[in-house]
Parts: sequence; structure tokens; C-alpha cells
Amino acid sequence: MEAKRLAAEKAVTYLQNDMIVGLGTGSTTFWAIKKIGERVQEGLNIKAVASSEHSETLARQLNIPIVAFNEIRNIDVTIDGADEVDKNFNLIKGGGGALLREKILVYHSKQFIVVVDSSKLVVHLGKYPLPIEIVPFASNLTLSRLKTLGCESVIRKNDDKLFKTDNGNLIADCHFNKILDPQSLDQQLRSIPGVVETGLFHHNLVTIVIAAYGDGKVNVMTKVSG
Ligand code: 5RP
Repeated sequence: MEAKRLAAEKAVTYLQNDMIVGLGTGSTTFWAIKKIGERVQEGLNIKAVASSEHSETLARQLNIPIVAFNEIRNIDVTIDGADEVDKNFNLIKGGGGALLREKILVYHSKQFIVVVDSSKLVVHLGKYPLPIEIVPFASNLTLSRLKTLGCESVIRKNDDKLFKTDNGNLIADCHFNKILDPQSLDQQLRSIPGVVETGLFHHNLVTIVIAAYGDGKVNVMTKVSG
């Protein structure tokens, strides 16, 4: 928890007056939203858009001004967590089920700051089951197609009830074990009718990864070009 807080709070130091800020979802982003709330109280003048109803509620409780998506043209910076980060900055996201809205935010953001504790840093993606948002219609057929791409998938549940995303869809958690080519897998998955979005985030979307360690060290990493 301490490492998540340290990474998240470091990301908040990048915020400046008049920015439109994208708020991610999850237990690491929670600390970023809390810190943004403190800075707003101290006078930071930003507006925010949220990737989930949960994050929006939290932001409103902390008096962070929320702006409607239709009132903005783009987002200056989005801060969000990840479930895995590979050495090229490709990500698996969606552990909290907000991957579609998160990807929309990040796509429209000039900068994307990923905040993680060091346990999320991996050589290859795939140990963490890849969340895939699918429509409920004919979901068994969609799952059988996912299987042909090499994964065992399980429909996510909350206790005994099907987990529903903020968009009313289901999440298939797909066990690949090792994902060697995230980009091509993402394309293959998204070509299946019924798949709305995947939790694979291409490294081109990522500006900075901030990883914090148990000993309090915080590592700010930018991509090595070439
Ligand atoms: C939610 C996400 C989260 O950012 C991801 O699951 C990491 O969560 P946490 O910060 O709780 O470890 O993608 O959809």
C-alpha cells in the first residue's frame, strides 16, 4: 500500500494549473485522487474526467471539479495504475474492470503517467489474466473464439453475481501465461465480434511509468527511444 501511495503521489507533482486531468481507477489511483483533492484544496486549478463511476464519486467527494466529456477536446494528462508493465511499457490493465473507459481516456490524453508498485513490473505480459470486455449477447460463443487464440477464459464474478462494467458489459479474464506479441494479440482479439476492448495497452500510449518499491524508492522511467 505504501509503495502504491508513493508512486501515485509522485505522479500528482506533474499536475499544473489549467490542466484537464484524466482519473484512472483502482487502489493505486485512489491515492492519486486523494492527493489531487488536497492540492485542489490548496489552490490547484484543474478540471477532471474520470474513467469510472467509482473514481468520479471519489473525486466529487474531494471537491475535485469534474467536467463533462462533451465539453473537452482532449486531456492533458491521465494518471492510472496497471496490473502488469513490461520492459517496453506495454501494459495489462482492467483488474478493476474499467479498461474500456480507461483506454478512451488514455487515447485522448497528451500524457499518460502509469503508477505502480514494483510487483507489477514484468519481463513478459500474461501472468496476470488479461481482462477482455465483451458484450453479454452470445457470450459463450465469444468465449469459445477466445479459446482458439490460446487462452482459458473465465467470466468475472462478484461473489455469485456476474460482474458488470460501467458500460453494462461482461469481463472475460483470459489466462495466456506469456504474451510475446501484445500488439498482434490485441488486434486478433478485437477482430472477434462481441469483444468490445482488451486490457492490452500499447506502449505508444504511455509517457512515464512511476514505480515505487517497498523500501520507499521511487523510480520515474521514461522510454528509451530506438
Ligand atoms: C482498473 C485498472 C487498474 O489500474 C489496475 O487493475 C491496477 O489496479 P490497482 O492499482 O488496484 O493495483 O486497470 O481497471
